[in-house]
Amino acid sequence: MAVSGVLANVPWWKSGIVYQIYPWSFQDTTGDGVGDIPGILARLDHLCDLGVDAVWLSPVYVSPMADFGYDIADYRDVDPRFGTLADLDRLIAELHARGMKLIMDFVPNHTSDEHPWFLESSSSRDNPRADWYIWHDPAPDGGPPNNWRSMFGGIGWKWCEARGQWYYHAFLDKQPDLNWRNPKVVAAMHDVLRFWLARGVDGFRVDVIWHLLKDPDFRDNPPNPDWTPDEPEVRHILQIMTCDQPGVIDLVKGFREVLDEFPDKVLIGEVYLTIERMCAYYGEALDGAHLPFNFHLLMDPWKAEMIGWLIEEYERRLPPGAWPNWVLGNHDNARVATRLGPAQARVAAVYLLTARGTPTLFQGDEIGLTNGVIPPDKVRDPQEKNEPGLPGHDRDIARTPMQWDASPYAGFSSVEPWLPLVPGWETVNVAAESADPASMLSLHKRLIALRRKHPALSIGEVRVLTAAGDLLAFERSLDGERFVVAMNFGSELIETSVPAASGGQIVLSAKGGRDGEIVGKRLTLAGDDALVIAFG
Ligand code: GLC
Repeated sequence: MAVSGVLANVPWWKSGIVYQIYPWSFQDTTGDGVGDIPGILARLDHLCDLGVDAVWLSPVYVSPMADFGYDIADYRDVDPRFGTLADLDRLIAELHARGMKLIMDFVPNHTSDEHPWFLESSSSRDNPRADWYIWHDPAPDGGPPNNWRSMFGGIGWKWCEARGQWYYHAFLDKQPDLNWRNPKVVAAMHDVLRFWLARGVDGFRVDVIWHLLKDPDFRDNPPNPDWTPDEPEVRHILQIMTCDQPGVIDLVKGFREVLDEFPDKVLIGEVYLTIERMCAYYGEALDGAHLPFNFHLLMDPWKAEMIGWLIEEYERRLPPGAWPNWVLGNHDNARVATRLGPAQARVAAVYLLTARGTPTLFQGDEIGLTNGVIPPDKVRDPQEKNEPGLPGHDRDIARTPMQWDASPYAGFSSVEPWLPLVPGWETVNVAAESADPASMLSLHKRLIALRRKHPALSIGEVRVLTAAGDLLAFERSLDGERFVVAMNFGSELIETSVPAASGGQIVLSAKGGRDGEIVGKRLTLAGDDALVIAFG
């Protein structure tokens, strides 16, 4: 979307809104039940109507799909399931023609075991790529070198007969970890980035960026005293030696240097870490990631006091000049409409789209998609297959197809989709919700339009006014423009005094029906409602 006025001098990734497309599930045009790039092209009007600025596209590279594209066999081509490189070039051009950006997923921690680099590396101990992956001799008893585990369950090592050695895989054994201590790996991956940047992509979301380095001495991870049996097995141990290692930020800076060879690109990094550690990924001189993903709305309890604390803690920990960001959902976590329930999901949408920081919106959350219901014989996610039944561990539930209309298969496909539609799709879909001013989709459109219209809501300052009980109120301001956002995290009516809100005019409410009201000395806020109040 074109920007003007005060936003014209602000980088697009600060003022803009990112929308994540999960290509398996956006739109199928070939009739195989799986989404594809021509499908995305056919649905660009939805992105324009919504008003987002950038698409982050989950991986579309050539892949055996053991982990749904996060296992890449060719970083420079498109998997035939999704189309061709020419289709992707067309997507870049068509997004740009509409004033939108394309952020590619970049998966540097591991390749597929079918990648030619791994085929060569695993063939012998003395081939030219022998040290491109993390190889180790057996322990004295012939077993794996140490206690490192896979994030997807089981040991993190796999035996390779040809080398008489083990290789480390933080995820599936079909996803061997690259050796990022090898400068040749670094250079090869930098060239992959340049390949895409030269094609016109506007940035990258870097997969598991905090995993890139592992302890060079291969020391055991310590046990986790707090592990409980309803948690994945990997949490038995603390990832002290396998994640967030000294030196990893230098690799992030290396990516950033490559991006800076091109104007106006963005580097987003996936980091599930404390706020303090997450902030390290900006780099002290803001020479790391522009936006280390902030997943705390996914990780922390949805409580007024907690969110108020998060805002303040984040603002305190951000290096000077660093820009925040917020995420409510993605392809790895339960849907926000299920996590918080439909009413609070509306309150959460108000937060995401009035917060100080770049919002990332996951496809389907704008129509209030809830978790999918996946029968055991339809499970596709390797994480769920390896460790079935753990709460919050099944990722298929967030990956079900987009629901476009009430036609068969919700307009997603002409055949049965790869994952089932969410029950109720006949009414929870883009077409039905477009026609309903009270729908989740209409709420998103109004919030986005408001954020676009008022720079105070995107790039303005933030100040927490109150965060107690069920009430969170905060202020956004810029150059004399001021908003107060008041959110009710509970189902009971709140009647209280928020002096900074009095005299303002309600311009949006999550539940609807209060537009134009002037706030008096007392603020009344219905259960599960959130208000955006404007001044001046
Ligand atoms: C990231 C991706 C996830 C994938 C994992 C391994 O967390 O978001 O989907 O399984 O990395 O690449």
